[in-house]
Amino acid sequence: MDPRARPFRSVLYIPGSKARALEKARTLPVDAIIFDLEDAVAIEEKPAARTLLAETLAGNDYGTRYRIVRVNGLETEWGHDDLAAIRRAGADAVLLPKVETTAQLDALAEAVPGVPLWAMMETPKGILNADALAAHPRLEGFVMGTNDLAKEIGCRARPDRLPLMASLTHCLLAARAHGIVAVDGVYNAFRDEDGLRDECEQGRDLGFDGKSLIHPAQVAVANESFAPTEEEIDLAERQIAAYDEAERAGQGVAVVDGRIVENLHIVTARDTLAKAGRIAELEAAS
Ligand code: COA
Ligand code: MG
Repeated sequence: MDPRARPFRSVLYIPGSKARALEKARTLPVDAIIFDLEDAVAIEEKPAARTLLAETLAGNDYGTRYRIVRVNGLETEWGHDDLAAIRRAGADAVLLPKVETTAQLDALAEAVPGVPLWAMMETPKGILNADALAAHPRLEGFVMGTNDLAKEIGCRARPDRLPLMASLTHCLLAARAHGIVAVDGVYNAFRDEDGLRDECEQGRDLGFDGKSLIHPAQVAVANESFAPTEEEIDLAERQIAAYDEAERAGQGVAVVDGRIVENLHIVTARDTLAKAGRIAELEAAS
């Protein structure tokens, strides 16, 4: 199935150790959840978080929310136990941190047969290998790990994210070349709604499918930013109508709002309507 056939506008991290947040997430209007066993869980809490998360996943219904578990790296002392817990409890996908090589994905694929794989893109080596990683037959999506990446690059945090732009767009190209999902990094200042909106819109304009989030207060902004707007839907409908009419008149191009509309614009217009339709379907089902 096409990994991009479902919306990934809002992808919320939840520490696997926080029972209250795990419970609360069942009522939040998120497209996907990343249940975290890696960096959001302190070392001394790792085993307890794994057990709590496995029980939670096995015993609770998360409805339409796509359930992704972020495990610890397989080179750590926790990674393989995390995967064993996922095999028992069940999850929709497994997310591996700091992925750099296809060999890491092969090892993960073997450990969780049949489960779709996701990769954190957060090291210079991983970013440079994005094409090969995105081509992996089991890989379904990238999540940008912008905090780790900024640390590794040694760049400054800037509101325009200029130092990260090459990495973000490189991963997007790889994701699109191989038809997988691309989710943008987190916005750390979780009480700054205006800043979040700016960064969501930047990510959307670049081409990301959605944004990874750290707090419930960020969900509405992401859902709104990554959905087609009323204006975009209206324009798409008018482009399709105008183009149909032009074709009936034996012409290959139409003009809408003073702009040329060719076949390729119709492909985009149909994609916009399809995406809006999928979001409406998901919201009706949840
Ligand atoms: N998912 C689901 N629910 C969450 C949540 C999350 N990521 N973060 C907070 N909540 C819940 C809280 O449990 C609380 O619920 P309640 O009102 O029912 O008690 C409510 O939202 C309000 O939380 P708040 O008090 O505003 O947040 P906080 O100060 O307790 O926690 C953070 C702030 C940033 C520590 C917390 O949001 C968090 O742990 N986020 C995830 C961090 C993470 O996973 N990082 C790894 C990837 S970068
Ligand atoms: Mg990280």
